[in-house]
Amino acid sequence: MNVLGIETSCDETGVALYSTERGLLAHALYSQVRLHAEYGGVVPELASRDHVRKLLPLIERCLIDAGLRIDQLNGIAYTAGPGLVGALLVGAATARAIAWSLGVPAIGVHHMEGHLLAPLLEPDPPAPPFVALLVSGGHTQLVEVAQIGVYRLLGETLDDAAGEAFDKTAKMLGLPYPGGPELARLAESGQPGRFSFSRPMTDRPGLEFSFSGLKTQVLLAWQKSDQSEQTRADIARGFEDAAVETLAIKCERAMKATGAGTLVVAGGVGANRRLRARLAELAQVRQLRVSFPRPEFCTDNGAMIAFAGALRLAAGQRAEDALTVRPRWDMAALAAV
Ligand code: KG4
Ligand code: ZN
Repeated sequence: MNVLGIETSCDETGVALYSTERGLLAHALYSQVRLHAEYGGVVPELASRDHVRKLLPLIERCLIDAGLRIDQLNGIAYTAGPGLVGALLVGAATARAIAWSLGVPAIGVHHMEGHLLAPLLEPDPPAPPFVALLVSGGHTQLVEVAQIGVYRLLGETLDDAAGEAFDKTAKMLGLPYPGGPELARLAESGQPGRFSFSRPMTDRPGLEFSFSGLKTQVLLAWQKSDQSEQTRADIARGFEDAAVETLAIKCERAMKATGAGTLVVAGGVGANRRLRARLAELAQVRQLRVSFPRPEFCTDNGAMIAFAGALRLAAGQRAEDALTVRPRWDMAALAAV
């Protein structure tokens, strides 16, 4: 079965073709980063309009790359939520129109399930049960995965998401949008330990996160400092170390609490090199397995949507007749696959 996947939940237009027999055949991504940069954040209406411009050319390119004609598609998967409603509607309407015209089934995919399953696109994929750490711009969650589609929330952030904390901290330090990857790059030249920030909520039991206080600590440190280039890098390093250590401590707790032997990590912050290294070290010490998507599939992409949709389509699941998207959508409400 050849499945076209379409991702338009935020500011990346992602398209991919996944074959249930042959694996990932092609994928293409257009990032709107430059479009939104002058506003310092995503402008929803501009995002929707740009998805309209980019989506069909990307689909055509993927078909060419995969050597498929459009009538060789057997199903269409699209991100149905959570995300920006206008942006979601562009992908949903396009996907459903293609599906109707070809007479093939369509399926609306949960964006975070897409992220969660992205590590399964890699060689030697992990199999449930496992614990997933989902760290993106909008979510920070630990999820127990009993089987694909059966998700139990173990803990999540009470305020900012991890990616959001990276982005806001970067902005405070005067780094260009989008800040997360920029801050990580700057932290490479920072001196570890010169700034030591607290690891929020690790001093009490539980699997909840909170990142907004850390952001405030960074702001105060920056305001009181000499604001030199080296200090900027040292503060970035201090922030990254605190965020990474906090995530690692909660992961370790979640693994203990569930008795799971495998941890999967996904979402944009999963591309962070220091987080990957720290969790790999944790896995070695605790004799666990940790599994990440390749960095380009940590951030938003079409491949994860094509893959998650293909699993559901292969299990006979279909989108309901009405074309609806869900800007908010609880992953625990999903059907088992
Ligand atoms: O998953 P994603 O592409 O979009 C959402 O669904 O939110 O995640 C984007 C987030 C942004 O906050 C971005 O700053 C962060 O992931 N991010 C990173 C890195 N690469 C992306 N944060 C820290 N280090 C990185 N290398
Ligand atoms: Zn995402």
